[in-house]
Amino acid sequence: MNEADSEEMFLHLSARGAVRTDKLDEADAVLINTCTVRDHAEHRALSFLGRLCKWKRQNPKRIIIFAGCAAERLGNQLKKRYPYLNIVAGAKGIEHFSDTLNKSGLFTTALAAPLAPAPTLSAYVTIMRGCNFNCTYCIVPSVRGPVKCLPHEEILKEAARHAQAGAKEIMLLGQTVNAYQDGNVTFSGLLNRVSEIPGVERVRFTSPHPLYFTDEFLCTVRQNPKLARHLHIPVQSGSTRVLTEMKRGYTRELFLEKVRALQDAGCHITTDIIVGFPTETETDFEQTLTLVDEAKFLAAYCFKYSPRQGTPAAQMQLLSENVLEKRLAILLNKVRGLADQAYQRQIGTIQEVLMETENKGRASGSFWVQTPVNYPVGSLVRCPIEHAEGTLLFARNEHD
Ligand code: 5AD
Ligand code: SF4
Repeated sequence: MNEADSEEMFLHLSARGAVRTDKLDEADAVLINTCTVRDHAEHRALSFLGRLCKWKRQNPKRIIIFAGCAAERLGNQLKKRYPYLNIVAGAKGIEHFSDTLNKSGLFTTALAAPLAPAPTLSAYVTIMRGCNFNCTYCIVPSVRGPVKCLPHEEILKEAARHAQAGAKEIMLLGQTVNAYQDGNVTFSGLLNRVSEIPGVERVRFTSPHPLYFTDEFLCTVRQNPKLARHLHIPVQSGSTRVLTEMKRGYTRELFLEKVRALQDAGCHITTDIIVGFPTETETDFEQTLTLVDEAKFLAAYCFKYSPRQGTPAAQMQLLSENVLEKRLAILLNKVRGLADQAYQRQIGTIQEVLMETENKGRASGSFWVQTPVNYPVGSLVRCPIEHAEGTLLFARNEHD
């Protein structure tokens, strides 16, 4: 989501004549788009901002923009701590980023016509912002605000613009993306309409909430082959007691039930897990380990619990760093082999691959596949899988 927001902000800058450079010495302006979901992310952004002090001193006309979730959380205190910072653009105001640039007086007026996004094979389209949940560990609702769904007509127009520019895959984005609703257009309805846009071969989305995987969605998966067979569904914990403390709204059993139904419909699943949430006991943690075994995830991203100021869980007693480290190491060890195992299970299957280079592409279930002969980038190729090495599948040469 931050990548998509960065692109959106960059379009507003390029409408004012800016071009991209990855060489700091050549830059006249730096845009730092930040995350605050864990303390570490915020820390990295602030330490980069701190290092820019010298860069700015070399030429005081240089411009620094600090944007996104950490900017929203820290607000005006930033300019006090970093007086050389020019613009603070919090996550809630991303829709007004152009006005923020105008008000700063640091940029020329934007071109009248909006610029076309850079052509990509896979394009992001934001469909909703914010979150209506209140998971007790999470800072997102306070920095991104409540859910705002974008009108479906606008979403379809934007997706069509990307498709016309050559995108074959559309990635729909939202904090609880599958809770999307605009009048009588449901999330499933939107997925189908995006799939019908000429040129669109595949539709992905992230991040969904387990509770919104409805029967309607299951039907859509079964009926719509353009829907990617990979879903990222954050579970956070395998213990119903901890899930209740986290206010996630589902039990271990309900999560597993949804996952099985989606897997039966051909989907591969990745997840997020938090270890060491306050009150998590050894027994709770073991429940997370057994859930990993039962759910047959394709991959799991594991995080140490990080207290976020102002969230309900920040009032709870922290577990010791020792316990957090130990549990994270055990979990990481457990999830390390998941992808390799899932890749091995694909041997003998036929995968439909969207070519990202001439001999490598992604299958619908998000597996990387190498082909024995070259194909045009952006084409869809049916590949019988012969063998797997680590996280790469090798397709058989049908002419052998
Ligand atoms: N501490 C650790 N991990 C967190 N996440 C969200 N909030 C926290 C926190 N306070 C993780 C969740 C979420 C992912 C984006 O970040 O697993 O799914
Ligand atoms: Fe945070 Fe996701 Fe929970 Fe919303 S649903 S509060 S973004 S973890």
